[in-house]
Amino acid sequence: MTEKEQLAYDKEHIWHPYTSMVNPLHCYLVKSAKGVTIELNDGRKLIDGMSSWWSAIHGYNHPELNKAATNQLNKMSHVMFGGLTHEPAIELSKKLIEITPKSLQKIFFSDSGSVAVEVAMKMALQFWHSNGLKNKNKFATVSSGYHGDTWNAMSVCDPVTGMHSIFNDVLNIQFFAPSPKVCFNEKWDNSDFVEMKNLLEQNQSKIAAVILEPIVQGAGGMRFYNPQYLRLLKNLCNKLDILLIYDEIATGFGRTGKLFACEHSDTEPDIMCLGKALTGGYMSLAVTLTTNKVAETISNGNPAIFMHGPTFMGNPLACSIANKNIELLFSTNWEYNVKRIEKHFIETLFSLKSNHNIKDVRVLGAIGVVEMNKNVDVEKIQKQFVDEGIWVRPFGKLIYLMPPYIISDKELAFLTNALLKVLHLYNT
Ligand SMILES: Cc1ncc(COP(=O)(O)O)c(C=O)c1O
Repeated sequence: MTEKEQLAYDKEHIWHPYTSMVNPLHCYLVKSAKGVTIELNDGRKLIDGMSSWWSAIHGYNHPELNKAATNQLNKMSHVMFGGLTHEPAIELSKKLIEITPKSLQKIFFSDSGSVAVEVAMKMALQFWHSNGLKNKNKFATVSSGYHGDTWNAMSVCDPVTGMHSIFNDVLNIQFFAPSPKVCFNEKWDNSDFVEMKNLLEQNQSKIAAVILEPIVQGAGGMRFYNPQYLRLLKNLCNKLDILLIYDEIATGFGRTGKLFACEHSDTEPDIMCLGKALTGGYMSLAVTLTTNKVAETISNGNPAIFMHGPTFMGNPLACSIANKNIELLFSTNWEYNVKRIEKHFIETLFSLKSNHNIKDVRVLGAIGVVEMNKNVDVEKIQKQFVDEGIWVRPFGKLIYLMPPYIISDKELAFLTNALLKVLHLYNT
């Protein structure tokens, strides 16, 4: 098929994320990707500003990750996890238990972020079920959150910008507090926690867990909030017997400047979800970690087993790549790279603050966000970015950068120069 035919077939038959099948947004045909460069089929090369949605932290087509994949392929790509186990999963569990908060000691593998969230929510429900408290079966969260597109994950996504408007009648009704308002670097104000406090105190007997993204609310608004919120939340959850679930699927593995975003607050959850960057963007793999207490309570309940077990659980190929991905993270000085990117974003993107079309510019770790006053025309601005040689995918009012950590200074300058050039067009 020619490029034109492939794109026509794609447009006719293939659904892309959050698009219409009748009037889809334009898609670009990719030939290959290497390092931080995505090469289009027509030969154009784009510097990647997205890490394929938080995941490709070491860039594309990495020789070491490729080697880990081919080595494992020559042994086995998959075996069932029921009754069988293997070194890649054992090694990965050991690594994850070592680097995540100390209280997390048990691990459950699944195949995507949304499923890891479903698993976390089921763990919380089964925990209270095993304690004889079957009515503790609701979740509390904050507005502007995003936890995935499967059923229960969807029920704790932002009720306005999420999918509640379509599925409200059949979604589980959860408790929502306003999203935290005090920003990451702002002076803390206790009033920011009052509504969450009231909500938890008034509904304690019904709430199994609070679930939220620590520090960075990602797809729900790219907002960075104050770590004190999490400290107060952790204390209150402990006091009221409510479990705390941190969804670190986007923030995990260094993106915010700490290995896990919860470290900004020195708090530990009862359950934590990881995904995305876990395999460096190579394969879909996710995990849900929990404490001995949660795992043992479920396992002493009735039924005395945890009721979940996906076909591709603990996939050896994905686990081997994840192992190499974590090794690379530590051997390539991720902390230095994330700081370097953060400094560059502050030095360049903040110049946009005077642009009257721009509401806010914020930077945390290797995340740079430009919030416009109005929704952008995604197809139009995407074309302008591609014409300038960069890959950036905005949504709503948000244009954001989260490049692979290995991006060189020269590539980083190219990325932000191109972004500034396109955004300055909005000044006219
Ligand atoms: C915080 C968070 N949780 C869950 C998910 C869902 O992950 P997945 O798309 O792998 O199902 C995402 C995806 O963007 C996310 O950002």
